[in-house]
Amino acid sequence: MSNISKELILNVLRKVNDPDLHKDLVSLNMIKDIQISGDNVKVTVELTTPACPLKDKIKQDCVDAIRKDVGGIKNLEIEMGASVRSHVNAIKAQLLPGVKNTIAVASGKGGVGKSTVAVNLAVSLAKDGAKVGLLDADVYGPSIPLMLGVNGRPKMVGQPDSFKIIPLENYGVKLMSIGFLVEDNTPVIWRGPMASGAIKQFMADVEWDELDYLIFDLPPGTGDIQLTLVQLIPLTGAVIVTTPQNVALIDARKGLKMFERVNVTVLGIIENMSYFIAPDTGKRYEIFGYGGGKKAAQELNVPFLGEIPINPQIREGGDNGKPIVIEHPDCDESKKIREIARNMAAQVSIRNVLSPIIPKIEILSNN
Ligand SMILES: Nc1ncnc2c1ncn2[C@@H]1O[C@H](COP(=O)(O)OP(=O)(O)O)[C@@H](O)[C@H]1O
Ligand SMILES: [Mg+2]
Repeated sequence: MSNISKELILNVLRKVNDPDLHKDLVSLNMIKDIQISGDNVKVTVELTTPACPLKDKIKQDCVDAIRKDVGGIKNLEIEMGASVRSHVNAIKAQLLPGVKNTIAVASGKGGVGKSTVAVNLAVSLAKDGAKVGLLDADVYGPSIPLMLGVNGRPKMVGQPDSFKIIPLENYGVKLMSIGFLVEDNTPVIWRGPMASGAIKQFMADVEWDELDYLIFDLPPGTGDIQLTLVQLIPLTGAVIVTTPQNVALIDARKGLKMFERVNVTVLGIIENMSYFIAPDTGKRYEIFGYGGGKKAAQELNVPFLGEIPINPQIREGGDNGKPIVIEHPDCDESKKIREIARNMAAQVSIRNVLSPIIPKIEILSNN
């Protein structure tokens, strides 16, 4: 007869930590089930995100800990599941009832690849099994529908006074764009209050259903319109996309300041266009310099989520509506982007588990 018991296994798992969350799996309430039949044991672990960068490590740590301290087990199975956690506050529950987390992708200036990064991060999270939405809130140039390969307009359902907009979907990502509100090729030159009104409308009227992550592609910059938006949108956190050069560091700092003013956590900095590897010679060129993003993250004391090189396939993916993580899933760039998405998801989990602070909401002006 074996003396393997649930208590014994649970006690052993109390010694296994989630390396990101710095707590053990039992106090994090991640052990969902322990089944013992004779000398076979099955443990079900529920991570805080399907995009967990440490999934394999945590699984192995469980195996090692149980094998070390519990004798007599023949088959040991660790099943890894995930349930994304949320940091609910009143506003979020009201405006976005089924949405667990909202992440703004921001940049100090245009053209740094913010939309490209937002699309690829969203698709990456969906590929890892998360329920993902993307809201193109860039009133200056809504480009996400093109980049995600979505054309057509979303459907409206219900009565005129209580209608809902059904988002379009591609690659497992639900999409709404401010671009759907205007005719093709009509530049959207709106003034701040009108644009923010439209965004607010979006949030109330779109039928997102259940989402683990809703990603917002914000307009570039840190002006009034951005400030208004980050106060309107109930955000779990923000990521800042920058290019490597020194001026970008200044922009990143401005972005961080803006989020600090409205108590939005900066989940991290991503450096895009970090370097270029010539396909013919393999030589590396640091076209915009290198390392500004990491340096900014260190200086500003926020996580550095990773770097993405320049690669024409990334641009083509955007132009063709086939993001690189879909079209070339095994290339280095795609691997880097997938890793960045997981690092970002980990930061969301850290925030939800460790700092349940309800953001203070007050409307500030940007001067
Ligand atoms: N890492 C990259 N490698 C190659 N081209 C890129 C990369 N990131 C972005 N681009 C291209 O640069 C241009 C600007 O990117 P975009 O995402 O529209 O920037 P933003 O949203 O910040 O204005 C696009 O043509 C895009 O395809
Ligand atoms: Mg853009």
